[in-house]
Amino acid sequence: MNKRIIITGGNSRFGQELKKSFSGKNIIYTTRKDLNILNIKSIEKCLEKHKPKYLIHLASLSRPMIIHEKDIGSSIDANIIGTANIVKKCFESNIKLIYFSTNYVYPGDKGNYRENDALKPVNNYAWSKLGGEASVKLYENSLILRLSMTEFPFVHDKAFKDAKNNFLYRKDVIRILPKLLDEKGIINIGSNKSESIYSFAKKTQPNVKPISVKSVKNFPVNSSVNINKLQKVLKNKNRKNFSKMTNSKSDFSKIIYPAGPSVTQLEREIIDDMMRFGWDNYDYVEKFEKEFANYHERKFCLMTPSCTMAIYLSLKALNIKKDDEIIVPDVTWTATVSPIVELGAKPIFVDVNKNDWCINTEKIIEKISKKTKAIFAVDLFGNMPNMEKLKIISKKHKILLLEDSAEALGSQLNGVKAGKFGDVSFHSFHRTKTITSGEGGVLLTDNKKLFLKAKLYRDLGRSEKNSYIAEVASLKFMPSNIQAAMAYGQFKRLKELLSIKRNIFNEYKKNLSKIEVHFNTDNKNVKNGLWATVIYFDKKYKVNIPKLIRFLEKKKIYSREFFRPLSSQPGYKNFTSNKIAKQNKISYSLFKNTLVLPSHYNLNKHDIQKVCSYIIKFVNI
Ligand SMILES: Cc1ncc(COP(=O)(O)O)c(C=O)c1O
Repeated sequence: MNKRIIITGGNSRFGQELKKSFSGKNIIYTTRKDLNILNIKSIEKCLEKHKPKYLIHLASLSRPMIIHEKDIGSSIDANIIGTANIVKKCFESNIKLIYFSTNYVYPGDKGNYRENDALKPVNNYAWSKLGGEASVKLYENSLILRLSMTEFPFVHDKAFKDAKNNFLYRKDVIRILPKLLDEKGIINIGSNKSESIYSFAKKTQPNVKPISVKSVKNFPVNSSVNINKLQKVLKNKNRKNFSKMTNSKSDFSKIIYPAGPSVTQLEREIIDDMMRFGWDNYDYVEKFEKEFANYHERKFCLMTPSCTMAIYLSLKALNIKKDDEIIVPDVTWTATVSPIVELGAKPIFVDVNKNDWCINTEKIIEKISKKTKAIFAVDLFGNMPNMEKLKIISKKHKILLLEDSAEALGSQLNGVKAGKFGDVSFHSFHRTKTITSGEGGVLLTDNKKLFLKAKLYRDLGRSEKNSYIAEVASLKFMPSNIQAAMAYGQFKRLKELLSIKRNIFNEYKKNLSKIEVHFNTDNKNVKNGLWATVIYFDKKYKVNIPKLIRFLEKKKIYSREFFRPLSSQPGYKNFTSNKIAKQNKISYSLFKNTLVLPSHYNLNKHDIQKVCSYIIKFVNI
């Protein structure tokens, strides 16, 4: 069925934001070059070429508002004549027309306006939009949206303290738009909270100055709209499960990203606090380190600009140097191992276990030599290695145990948290991780001497007594207070975030129960933080993972390959031999049969159902 959509004003601010969320061969964003609303021939040509079912009419003249008073010609052309042209052509081809109007068509004195209330535009801009509405209204197959919409964050430095509105951010409008396409008539769009523009603005623009509407001409004191009709429509759509436009058959569907954060007002407010009071101190760094150490029952925590830096800094503080050897699992992210190489030491690649994807403790023993300084265990995808055994080995051979728990925030082994096991352990707050500060990481340890040394090295080796004196020559690994504020806010939400990750994992498990796949470990001993859901396909399916990834990409579903054995990568060629693929058989076979599923915080049940249905389809082809 034809679901093609043409969008006029593809380069408008709203059009550009829409494009980031929805794209595909059935959504055509046009600019004046492709479709000039003042040129009937150009409209005809474009509609003839694409034969859309829907047309979302965004092209208009809006800001600056004053232009509609000063240059009424442009206002009439763009908003009235241009819209009328669009209506005529949609009418001829029976294309569903969705028109973006404004709440400023209402009188703006009492607020809470319903769709059938009397209209009295507040200024020329609103009159021009109402002019457009007038022609749209003649056409039955149309929808007029009267939006009380604004951008995030609030853009002006002044806001009216005595004027009310119920603004909805553009991004929230984009979220509901697909559910409205099949509606007709007029629908108000706004948030469910009517408040002064100043109090609304302050949430995202704390330094905004309050001003009075009395200071300007013709500004409405209350333009809030009643959204009962909108709520009813959305409720009905939800009951029908998922909007027709966003179901798996449509191309007008959400892009499913592999990973991404959940950020709320809490983090914004904490960062805002840092922005106002956090420039002459590292208060958030210190607060975050303290709480993060407490949570992991560790004595010391040091935050760094990334986890990679935390690893490098620790190895440096541990005096790891040229020709030292460190035993590492063959499958992990390169950042576990690149700091070792950077310091001139040698990584020794050991195979992993088939069931938990973590380092094989049996195989470690045979690799221990006089040069071995440490075993670097990795809690891959929140799974946990046999820590008891690793501790015994490290003790017996007097070598260090390092724990890379970058992927295991919230994981527990027999009730003990990932990040507690190593002489030094590490976490990452990369933008894809369970909590994020954009980039960021920490080291955790109970060893005071090591902690103090790492702390000294973290900040150019500067003396505590006189910060202008360098006790040792060192690089700088300081995180910013902004990073720490973000991490602090995210960490406050850890419980909630872990539960979202768990829901995603459970949903995948439910929807993939029909095929034989092995998930991240999550059982009575290992409680997984479930940063990302991962599936290992039974070999009987002979799944070609790169092909599956490409297949999903065509559906706008972005998954990832498993970690490629480091011993197979050019950057590590000096540390491998021809025999390694045979020696590390499990690592190589895991890479061939495993897929990292999209685990973005914004996934809902329907997205996951969609991902799973395509995976099942692919393996059954
Ligand atoms: C296992 C592992 N180690 C280390 C890192 C490095 O973390 P970062 O990106 O914060 O430097 C990551 C994350 O990407 C990782 O997954």
